[in-house]
Amino acid sequence: MSYPYQIKSLEQYHQVYRESIENPEAFWTTIAEHFRWKQNPERTLQWNFKDPEVKWFEGGTLNITENCLDRWAETQPHTAALIWESNDPEEHHRILSYKELLFKVNQFSNVLKNNGAKKGDRICIYMPMVPELAIAVLACARIGAIHSVVFGGFSAQSIADRINDAQCNIVITADGGYRGNKEIPLKNVIDDALVQCPSVQRVIVLTRTRIPVSMIKGRDTWWEDEIRKVETSGNPFVQAEEMKAEDPLFILYTSGSTGKPKGVVHSCAGYMIYTNYTFVNVFQYQPGELHFCTADIGWITGHSYILYGPLSAGATSLMFEGIPTWPDAGRFWDIVDKFKVNILYTAPTAIRSLMVFGTELIDRHDLSSLKVLGSVGEPINEEAWHWFDQHIGKGRCPIVDTWWQTETGGIMISNLAGITPQKPAHATYPLPGVQPILVDEQGNKIPGGDASALVLPSETISGNLCIQFPWPSIIRTTYGDHERCRTTYFSTYDHLYFTGDGCLRDAEGNYRITGRVDDVLNVSGHRIGTAEVENAINMHTGVVESAIVGYPHDIKGQGIYAYVIFNGHIPDKNLVAQDIHQTVSRIIGAIAKPDKIQFVSALPKTRSGKIMRRILRKIAEGDVDNLGDISTLFDPAVVEEIKMNRL
Ligand code: PRX
Repeated sequence: MSYPYQIKSLEQYHQVYRESIENPEAFWTTIAEHFRWKQNPERTLQWNFKDPEVKWFEGGTLNITENCLDRWAETQPHTAALIWESNDPEEHHRILSYKELLFKVNQFSNVLKNNGAKKGDRICIYMPMVPELAIAVLACARIGAIHSVVFGGFSAQSIADRINDAQCNIVITADGGYRGNKEIPLKNVIDDALVQCPSVQRVIVLTRTRIPVSMIKGRDTWWEDEIRKVETSGNPFVQAEEMKAEDPLFILYTSGSTGKPKGVVHSCAGYMIYTNYTFVNVFQYQPGELHFCTADIGWITGHSYILYGPLSAGATSLMFEGIPTWPDAGRFWDIVDKFKVNILYTAPTAIRSLMVFGTELIDRHDLSSLKVLGSVGEPINEEAWHWFDQHIGKGRCPIVDTWWQTETGGIMISNLAGITPQKPAHATYPLPGVQPILVDEQGNKIPGGDASALVLPSETISGNLCIQFPWPSIIRTTYGDHERCRTTYFSTYDHLYFTGDGCLRDAEGNYRITGRVDDVLNVSGHRIGTAEVENAINMHTGVVESAIVGYPHDIKGQGIYAYVIFNGHIPDKNLVAQDIHQTVSRIIGAIAKPDKIQFVSALPKTRSGKIMRRILRKIAEGDVDNLGDISTLFDPAVVEEIKMNRL
């Protein structure tokens, strides 16, 4: 096995990049030839960013699981597809070869069919990080059902909203899950959610922690019982459903600047080709290497770089159930040493949380198998970059700083490991086929900001990051509401996809993402909408109004600072703050709990009633002497009070 489209030199990168923008269709047509199609595509691309409508590889039909499983089960059946490491270092790890994984996916595809699942159905998956999660996801893809994986940290209410939005008819879950020293009662959370979800007819429950759970007759069934039924009925092989290139593959919900999360929809063919292409090129994967992405499959990083990218390349992917700091902060280094990991792809927040423990736990392990390190999810600060380089990569592993989003499906701007130059804290160059452009607030192109123009700026420039041409895994729609997709991404600037990120570009052409320019926070690499958190806080009976802003946080990157107007006397601030935490945990999930809650008598508002977040942000950041013009406020005095009581 080799990857003929793997770029091997800087010169080749420049040449391929040029070809990809001069003739994108020819470029992607050639790449698409390396996949297994049932019917070959007839037309490579049809698009406009106005509606928006983007169609890649039309006329083509395929099933992504034949590309991720069958073709490797035929040519390299005994190669490990997945290696699973438990939360508990004492529990034995599991290895599934391509042949075994295909078998298990077939088995579970039968289970889904036996439980009434059909092509096009939406299936919600709320599971711990065990191999059965991967199996469930791939089984959905095999039968053409659209998976909607919900991260195990979301609350019952969040799950219910997502299930109802997509009208899921089946839920796949587990009794519970392990995370560090905690047990998460997943099935109980699902039971709470399902009170509000009339569309769900079947719940398939895997045994993991074996905590007592309620099993409702006619609705709930055990995973293991269902597998047994399939086993007794003979050969489990399931013909992979023939999917059109543009049929939806999955929905993944993500936060935006408005209250309700959006269901980002990705398509079968474009998503497959792009995640494969970027996996092979960014990480410079070589056959036989072991790729360890530390994300949870509940996020896009897990979808694209634990499952679809690596598996479509016939790679070996390591999935880890636990957290970096349990039983101690050497867990990642244990795993790297134990399995001889070659590629480690993680998040700046994880790196920062491990930096504080010093190097003793690292020095106990042999990390010499590592070849490539990767970072994703938020801007990586230079200190974390250098620590990662020096202590983990020992100065000899390239670090890829990969910028992308749930909506982009795969990595958009990143150096290619060891091939194109790296620069600390810079995502650097666009991938072939990606045409980033920087614009000002009015949408004017900033000279030197357009990668496709092949002209470098004379000095570092700054603007809002947009993409001006489709790539195969671009978001197709927001589930059930195409207009929302248009207004969120394609209406801010004419004919451009707007990322929501601010960005710099230096005179060498390196892009450096500076963070969100909208009301979206990035907490520990997770996207959290301020409006969503405010809505949750406002549901607490005593709360009149609230405003959320982000502030720099040493480990999380951004912390959540809440300003809350409470109704009447607050007997015990601590207790009320805890109540508010509970409310947010119930409505969204523990990941959205504010780090700081300041009770205020009023919020700084303009005369027209708009909250001036700029001021609140400055105060939260501790920049209280630099608030700018506050004369337009309805009541400037409130600023003094807020400043004085700052936490
Ligand atoms: O602000 C950018 C930041 O994460 C956002 C996307 O979040 P999400 O859809 O949850 O996907 C995260 C994993 C792909 C972006 O808009 N972001 C992601 N990667 C980077 C980054 N910011 C800077 N540098 C990165 N490498």
